[in-house]
Amino acid sequence: MSRVFINNHPVVQHKLTILRDKNTGSKEFRELTSEIAQFLTYEFTRDLKTQDVEIDTPLSKMKGCYINLKDIVVVPILRAGTVLAEGILKLLPTAKVGHVGVYRDHQTLKPITYYVKTPPIINDSLFIVVDPMLATGGSAIEAIRLIKERGARKISFVCILAAPEGIKNLHKAHPGVDIYTASVDDCLDERGYILPGLGDAGDRLFGTK
Ligand code: PRP
Ligand code: URA
Repeated sequence: MSRVFINNHPVVQHKLTILRDKNTGSKEFRELTSEIAQFLTYEFTRDLKTQDVEIDTPLSKMKGCYINLKDIVVVPILRAGTVLAEGILKLLPTAKVGHVGVYRDHQTLKPITYYVKTPPIINDSLFIVVDPMLATGGSAIEAIRLIKERGARKISFVCILAAPEGIKNLHKAHPGVDIYTASVDDCLDERGYILPGLGDAGDRLFGTK
């Protein structure tokens, strides 16, 4: 069964509160989204395997360790996920990047796919699928299905906000995919928006409304 990790760190919750505020403009919204994604990734990468290496400091030899960043693939769900990916790549700069283009139909709330491109899978690569919002879960479920179809096996999902409905649906469709988020909100409204939420993430990130 997959697990849900909620990052309750005061710095994350402070940034999330500014992000939710309807008076926060696109520039700050993008910066905060990227920063929160970094905090979530910091927690999420705690269990990554490391390899011992011997290095020379200016004073002596010592044993240090590296993580193998080439085995990590960040997969933003277009379009809003790209801003989280940007933040994550600051922490994991040599990770590979795949893209899945999915939007949800406004009437049916069903996901519509328009683009998929993933790098080749090496050494059982770890895929981090990212999108700010897990609402009904339709977009995340479809994106994960598409990368599984291409061979991905180790997959986690990172989002800023999750609705209980989305968590339940994602668990059911892809048991074993852990979710990392800054908050599990109350519910969805009749249009499928997360409550209290932050509104339409894509529109607020890119100023399209
Ligand atoms: C938003 C969001 C998710 C999706 C979540 O994207 O970025 O991808 O909705 O909703 P779901 O869990 O019910 O599928 P949207 O469909 O608005 O597309 P956009 O990124 O092009 O704005
Ligand atoms: N997509 C968004 O951008 N916001 C929501 O609240 C739900 C889906």
